[in-house]
Amino acid sequence: MFARIAGRYDVANRLLSGGIDLWWRRRLIRSVAAESPRDVLDLATGSGDVAFALAKGLPEGTPITGMDFCRPMLDEAEKKQPDMPRSSHITFREGDGLNLPCGDASFDAATISFGLRNMADRHRCLTELHRVLRPGGSVWVLEFSQPRQWLRPFYYFYLRHILPLVAAVVTGDKSAYDYLCGSIEEFPTHNGIAEEMKTAGFASVSVQRLTGGIVALHGGHKAN
Ligand SMILES: C[S@@+](CC[C@H](N)C(=O)[O-])C[C@H]1O[C@@H](n2cnc3c(N)ncnc32)[C@H](O)[C@@H]1O
Repeated sequence: MFARIAGRYDVANRLLSGGIDLWWRRRLIRSVAAESPRDVLDLATGSGDVAFALAKGLPEGTPITGMDFCRPMLDEAEKKQPDMPRSSHITFREGDGLNLPCGDASFDAATISFGLRNMADRHRCLTELHRVLRPGGSVWVLEFSQPRQWLRPFYYFYLRHILPLVAAVVTGDKSAYDYLCGSIEEFPTHNGIAEEMKTAGFASVSVQRLTGGIVALHGGHKAN
């Protein structure tokens, strides 16, 4: 599905979120940077926006690995790479989030932005992220969530009736965005994801609800 929409993915993101997705990713980068990681894995990197934002937000030269199992999405990321002045330390690699091609304890930090919802097995993905982190390392999960009660009628109206129409025009692929709406509505609450992170082994799990809870930024640590 992502291979079908790869070429229009960035445009659709900007349009459908009204540009707020850039701010959500900035909040993610700020949290990662506060931990001063020596290297970062950005899983489900897609067209690479988080990897590029990490390159800007972390000290120059910090190695960043952008990983995804969808080659056309990685192709979109690589197309943008020459435009990024500080991108030489970003490596884009193919890899499955359910079976990461990385050794144990390989990274200080891992990010997954709008990716966990798309994993066929969330628990497996979270345990894989836990495995590849060094002791003391941190994981950051940015994902759609269930918004505050007062916002739900407006938000679900937008999700069910407006977003699929706009997406169909922009990407020519209505079914991909029908999937998006369904997967967002079925996704657990911020507390549910926090519990899943704890079950996967993460400690000191924190949650920041953004934009009325439409999106949540979860952080967790691998014990020392
Ligand atoms: C909605 S995009 C998110 C892209 C990017 N992180 C962002 O913030 O815009 C979800 C990505 O997850 C990837 N993905 C889904 N399942 C995966 C898996 N098992 N392993 C690796 N990537 C996966 C898809 O290929 C897609 O690029």
